[in-house]
Amino acid sequence: MKKLLIALAFFISGKITFSQNYVVLQPAKSKDTISKYIYGHFSEHLGRCIYGGLYVGENNKKIPNKDGVRIDVINALKKLKVPVLRWPGGCFADTYHWRDGVGPKAKRPSMLNVWWGNVKEDNSFGTNEFLNMCEEIGTEAYLSGNVGSGTPQELTDWVKYTTYPNSSSPMTDERKANGRKTPWKVGFWGLGNEAWGCGGNMTAEWYANVYKQYATFMTDWSNTDKLYRIASGASGDDYNWTEVMMKNIPLKMFDALGLHHYSVIDWDKKGSATGFSEKEYFTTMQRSLFMEELVTKHSAVMDKYDPGKTKSLAVDEWGGWYEVEPGTNSAFLFQQNTMRDAMIAGCNLNIFNNHCDRVKMANLAQIVNVLQAVILTDEEKMILTPTYHVMEMYNVHQGATMIPLSVISNQYEFGNQKLQAIWASASKDSLGRTHLSLVNIDASKTQDVTIDINGSAFKTVKGRILKSDKLQDYNSFQNPNKIVPTAFTGASLAKDQLTVKIPPFSVIVLELE
Ligand code: AHR
Repeated sequence: MKKLLIALAFFISGKITFSQNYVVLQPAKSKDTISKYIYGHFSEHLGRCIYGGLYVGENNKKIPNKDGVRIDVINALKKLKVPVLRWPGGCFADTYHWRDGVGPKAKRPSMLNVWWGNVKEDNSFGTNEFLNMCEEIGTEAYLSGNVGSGTPQELTDWVKYTTYPNSSSPMTDERKANGRKTPWKVGFWGLGNEAWGCGGNMTAEWYANVYKQYATFMTDWSNTDKLYRIASGASGDDYNWTEVMMKNIPLKMFDALGLHHYSVIDWDKKGSATGFSEKEYFTTMQRSLFMEELVTKHSAVMDKYDPGKTKSLAVDEWGGWYEVEPGTNSAFLFQQNTMRDAMIAGCNLNIFNNHCDRVKMANLAQIVNVLQAVILTDEEKMILTPTYHVMEMYNVHQGATMIPLSVISNQYEFGNQKLQAIWASASKDSLGRTHLSLVNIDASKTQDVTIDINGSAFKTVKGRILKSDKLQDYNSFQNPNKIVPTAFTGASLAKDQLTVKIPPFSVIVLELE
């Protein structure tokens, strides 16, 4: 209704006709910061995410590495400005016993990775390796604790091993013996993963009690350690899960509630990552854009118990999920990444930006070689996916002040179904630059967008675009730079109006000064 009134006002004033797309920036209403953690990632002991993707071993002479971690990947992740990295799972987290992964490697026991192909996990990449890697990349750690098959003692020991000053606990002596004197910074702690499923198949009420038990022993009554504790959240639209967490866990015992939502066409028939039809593309986008409704409704439930928005929603798993690449292990979840994934990334990041009053963290699943990865590797080769480029283009929003906006959009029509074609978000950074990110999901139509900049006196506009000839296009090891951002010249600035011509299935980030 509000959008309609704005549209009507501009129509009457002769500024637009209804066949146009219209975006109204409202800088005067800016108040919320876009948490940089919205641009977070997720790494799991799954397929080739850790082994081969991030870590190739200290003795690897073929692939250049620093303490076993690939240097090409470190450099790419530094450029991406990864603010937080979740580890060691996912489902794997609730089977993981951290003590198996510390100390001399030759003495570390092996285990079976039961969720992901029953492969042998030799624990050569453990706590020290992960936290040192985070420091190298310049990212904060989000450790996902084992609540499903662990103990409160095990989790509290992990907290002390990683974060306590030297000699303040027997755990720190162990850390010192393992070669690390000073504590690491662990920004975030997850208490279990998908407690409603692979994390223990618990009811919401049962998990809320288990959560309180673990949270109690992780720190003291007043959380003097200032741990940021994240409760395992709902799957998709299970609003009751959020309701029970908010009702049953005292607010002082947690900082964020998780939420997982994947863009999946059909769990029994997920479709090819690259060989998809427009119908499949449309359905993927329907599933993906459902995120808008999910964060709105979960936030509304949280508002009932926390009107001051002191607790966050952490969308700690999201992204596209398709069939694995032909000929690869079906448990390794290795998939290619096309312009469809760029659309998922651009739209979801816009949604998170616009809901930054409640959404303070999001973790794309997963960082390398699994699901909607930003990086793919093949032995010594590494490529950056279209999703990488979107995340890199959007990193200008990290820590910036969100500028509320309204969008009146043409519809992307397929058969008798419709989706909003234009998705947008905007922010102002600490240097006073305004950034506007725009996505046109329409598979065939260029969209002309008129942007009311609401009296802002901009003198210049520049930007970058990510586009390709076909929706199914991707970067391959043979052609790694088929899709890369290029300079965008289709924006023009008049007095208080900006006009932009956005090609089909493309992502644009503009900078206005
Ligand atoms: O990302 C793959 C899996 O999806 C994760 O391990 C789990 O949490 C989710 O179901």
